[in-house]
Amino acid sequence: MLRIESLNTHYGRSHVLQGVDLEVPAGRIGAVLGRNGVGKTTTVRSIMGLVPPTSGHVLLDGQDIAGWAPHLVARAGVAYVPEGRLIFPDLSVLENIRVGERKPAKVWTMERLLDLFPSLRERAGNRGWQLSGGEQQMLAIARALVSDPRVVLLDEPSQGLAPLVVRELAGVIKRLCDEGVTILLIEQNMKLAEAVADQLHVMVKGRIVYAATPDVFRAEEEAIRGKYLTL
Ligand SMILES: Nc1ncnc2c1ncn2[C@@H]1O[C@H](COP(=O)(O)OP(=O)(O)OP(=O)(O)O)[C@@H](O)[C@H]1O
Ligand SMILES: [Mg+2]
Repeated sequence: MLRIESLNTHYGRSHVLQGVDLEVPAGRIGAVLGRNGVGKTTTVRSIMGLVPPTSGHVLLDGQDIAGWAPHLVARAGVAYVPEGRLIFPDLSVLENIRVGERKPAKVWTMERLLDLFPSLRERAGNRGWQLSGGEQQMLAIARALVSDPRVVLLDEPSQGLAPLVVRELAGVIKRLCDEGVTILLIEQNMKLAEAVADQLHVMVKGRIVYAATPDVFRAEEEAIRGKYLTL
């Protein structure tokens, strides 16, 4: 479904992605772990066309969308939940969700989104700034879903959230997967990634250096953590 091949991306002269290879089959969850600054966000921004890759392929059901403008990538069925959520503080919950709407949703209608996120239903009229971090994260996910995407890119959704809220988030991510959404999850929270992902990938200096299923990853975790993940 989503397949990234030899992706290279530069910021000016800085060669950030150095041949990223990654695949997430349809309806599955692929996670990317990695230290700060290795290129995780650049990977999702490159897929979205927010920073055009200099070479390589981003295949969506076999169609190469690398270098497409962001609105065309979105139209092709990819939605992006950015790091830091980027909720509009002065818009209400419902208005924030509608920002993500391209045409009236068929799959993820407002009703269905508010069923999926009961806390957002309770706070429908509240402004973005009045929400907790967890509610803001759920809102950012709802805003992505309202475009009826086939693929959702989640950039560090657990950042700054309390353990209980991270558990709730894990439930939401699994639920999306059950509904057939393909998910690329960027995370620093290894427990969350292990709990939800079908395949875990580790990024070091702009490359995927390791990939395994959660079971294999768990067995090798200490070595992997020491080698690639701790500072
Ligand atoms: N707009 C930009 N212009 C220039 N360099 C950038 C830009 N954005 C990121 N970088 C650099 O590219 C590298 C990769 O950054 P990126 O944000 O992709 O890392 P990350 O893995 O998402 O890190 P974090 O865990 O902190 O979110 C870093 O060295 C960063 O300083
Ligand atoms: Mg990042």
